[in-house]
Amino acid sequence: MVALRRRLLRTPLGLLLTQTQLEAERDQIHLALWHDGAVAGTLLAIRPDAGGTAKLRQMAVSASLQGRGLGAALVHHAETILQPLGANRIVLSARETAVGFYRRLGYRVTGETYIEVTIPHLPMGKIL
Ligand SMILES: CC(C)(COP(=O)(O)OP(=O)(O)OC[C@H]1O[C@@H](n2cnc3c(N)ncnc32)[C@H](O)[C@@H]1OP(=O)(O)O)[C@@H](O)C(=O)NCCC(=O)NCCS
Repeated sequence: MVALRRRLLRTPLGLLLTQTQLEAERDQIHLALWHDGAVAGTLLAIRPDAGGTAKLRQMAVSASLQGRGLGAALVHHAETILQPLGANRIVLSARETAVGFYRRLGYRVTGETYIEVTIPHLPMGKIL
């Protein structure tokens, strides 16, 4: 999963995924999508806070398998895991290029564009 995240989400931006950053993810929910014996997709979820807000991050599907519904399946799976844990809302930080993907899944833009990991992002959210 870390290799896929590095390949899709960090190396193209000239960034690293450090041991310190990975250590900070210990309590998060790590979802992997397998295809032909290899990890083909990743998604991490931060458990709901006291107000019921959970967060999705590190969404990535192998380039050769994109456009087949795998990303959507991962997000749906995360939602079905988070709801019984008390989530009533999911938020995420969407790359500008992925806003359309999240819109297809019912997420709405909730604020202005900002820069994160060197590229434009928008805050998005969905009420469950
Ligand atoms: C964004 C990403 C996760 C989408 O995964 P995917 O498996 O290709 O998406 P799906 O095939 O499940 O697409 C679901 C729907 O969203 C649409 N969609 C997918 N990517 C889209 C995009 N970038 N913009 C607009 N719509 C998009 C699909 O056409 C599909 O629509 P449909 O239901 O009408 O058929 C994938 O392209 C990816 O890993 N990109 C590189 C890393 C990245 O940008 N991650 C997001 C960080 S916030």
